[in-house]
Amino acid sequence: MTDTAEKLDLDELRALQLTRLQWTLEHAYTNVPFYTKKFDEAGVRPEDCRTLEDLAKFPFTTKHDLRDNYPFGMFAVPQDRIRRIHASSGTTGKPTVVCYTEADIDTWATVVARSIRAAGGRPGHKVHVAYGYGLFTGGLGAHYGAEKLGCTVIPASGGMTSRQVQIITDFAPEIIMVTPTYMLTLLDEFERQGIDPRTSSLKVGIFGAEPWTEQMRAEIEERAGIDAVDIYGLSEVMGPGVAQECVETKDGLHIWEDHFYPEVIDPFTERVQANGESGELLFTSLTKEALPIIRYRTRDLTRLLPGTARPSFRRMEKVTGRTDDMIILRGVNVFPTQIEEIVLRTEGLAPHFQLIRTTRGRMDHLTVHVEARSDTPAERRAAAAAELIAGVKDGVGVTVDVEVFDPDTLERSLGKMRRVLDQREGR
Ligand code: DLL
Repeated sequence: MTDTAEKLDLDELRALQLTRLQWTLEHAYTNVPFYTKKFDEAGVRPEDCRTLEDLAKFPFTTKHDLRDNYPFGMFAVPQDRIRRIHASSGTTGKPTVVCYTEADIDTWATVVARSIRAAGGRPGHKVHVAYGYGLFTGGLGAHYGAEKLGCTVIPASGGMTSRQVQIITDFAPEIIMVTPTYMLTLLDEFERQGIDPRTSSLKVGIFGAEPWTEQMRAEIEERAGIDAVDIYGLSEVMGPGVAQECVETKDGLHIWEDHFYPEVIDPFTERVQANGESGELLFTSLTKEALPIIRYRTRDLTRLLPGTARPSFRRMEKVTGRTDDMIILRGVNVFPTQIEEIVLRTEGLAPHFQLIRTTRGRMDHLTVHVEARSDTPAERRAAAAAELIAGVKDGVGVTVDVEVFDPDTLERSLGKMRRVLDQREGR
């Protein structure tokens, strides 16, 4: 059941990575004009990569590069070898388009199967997939992985929340795969229907596609009576299943390094950081045929740590945020996850919140819209708001406004939650 790569020792893994990296550089350079030009401009050739450290000589790839080559300019194989196309919508402009050969789809299913197994899933389990199906990689990525492991898939996709609760109740899945914020929406719906979610068949939730905190893990585990583990991925690198947290340790996500080579750089100096140092995560694909990707700048902030439950595979710490989600308030960097932590430890506040960015005078300003829990007495609300303001001032070092809303009034997540609403002038 374990795929053999999980048993590689460190020397075997590093040797495999180097061979695969050399193949990937050659493949990209030969078959994608974008990489030919990029490497030539940087004065590097695939054969200059003799050790894994040599990768640092090669240029980065960004989301802009994918957009500039819209739709099919990054593809490295003829179209008749491509079995699937996905795309990520993004918030503005053209989507980024990615593609897979038959072998790529099999690799992807393998890493997702490995991820579900690390989360505690076993053949025969029923897996309720509530990630969206379609051009987004979440639904189909989870789906093929669950089938590959030998599970029974329930392809619910996102939305139709009351029906999801009915299906979970009637079909009795052990595992749910969904964004953490949509899980909160589902938990509210269970309670609205008078069902205690702790009595459901669910044992494990595999949550990802957006940042979430340890406090959110505690909230979901407590309310749902399940183990909540983190799954990471991005379409440009593959989709879900690039890295996965193991249920027995819940200590960050093991990167499936036989297929995806990670680096962390300082996003400003662009220098490679040592293991353990924080910065922007980069990935180079090691086996992808249709869309090899070299030093892709994910914009996700984390650090690399040694392996634990899967000793040869490094872990990435839970993602704290994205460089482009960072809000700078009077010179202080603020991430939505920092606010999430404080909201969730404030008595009387529900885990539903949004951050509203506005301009006051010439300064940026932040207002936290948050809901009261259904059992919070009216007189507790003002105290909860004051505690949240003080908590943010102490913990993050900035002053925010807080508005506490009635239960069930703020927008609910149906997938990836939009945490920040930018209402600044001129936006
Ligand atoms: O969100 C793939 C995915 C689907 C991952 C389902 C996990 C589960 P994209 O739409 O391309 O792909 O968005 C990728 O989402 O760069 C991160 O910023 C964020 N992200 C994904 N997983 C996590 C996670 C999918 N576990 C972008 N923690 C990434 C924090 C995450 N952020």
